[in-house]
Amino acid sequence: MMYYVCRVPANRKLIPAVRRIQNKKVLDVGLGSGYYTQLLLDTNTVVGIDQNPHLCELPITVHQGDATQLSSIVRGEKFDVVLSTWMTDYLDAGQVQTFLAEAKSVLNDGGKLIVTFPDTYGLGFFYVRAAGLIRGVEKYTYSKKQIIEKLKRAGFTDIEIVKLNSWLYIPWAYMVIAQ
Ligand SMILES: C[S@@+](CC[C@H](N)C(=O)[O-])C[C@H]1O[C@@H](n2cnc3c(N)ncnc32)[C@H](O)[C@@H]1O
Repeated sequence: MMYYVCRVPANRKLIPAVRRIQNKKVLDVGLGSGYYTQLLLDTNTVVGIDQNPHLCELPITVHQGDATQLSSIVRGEKFDVVLSTWMTDYLDAGQVQTFLAEAKSVLNDGGKLIVTFPDTYGLGFFYVRAAGLIRGVEKYTYSKKQIIEKLKRAGFTDIEIVKLNSWLYIPWAYMVIAQ
């Protein structure tokens, strides 16, 4: 249900942003089955990282590993874009900070981070609580202010925050584009 209520409306902004990535080297963190990754494969080179790499059957390299350890997983490789969709809600505040710093460290100069965060307010609030109550999975949300603070602390300076609303314009999440 969350897919139709949250992800489908969010895709009106998220999918065009993913499609704008052209002729780049992309690291997709927490790519899952590769729902967004597949949109990149025509013109980009993509490497994936996921705790559950078996979920992805696309013909790309997917490393098993944690979002907080990107630099050691890719061993010095650098990327033009770090993409991470619907993954940060698995990370607590310390882990998000480490993930952002790690993303910055594997980006080329001028490289971009594109990442989503469920919002602390609106449907994001219900989403994380439902994940805990129904599935027993601890999830986290971050406010716009917290996201900006964490990005700046990680070394990002040029930060664009795009609101991703659910149906009926109910707040749901943010898409961040930062470099
Ligand atoms: C909701 S899925 C999103 C998949 C895909 N990015 C998408 O938008 O369709 C979250 C993915 O993040 C992965 N994941 C969760 N925590 C992670 C972590 N700490 N490090 C790496 N991957 C993680 C999960 O294994 C899962 O594949």
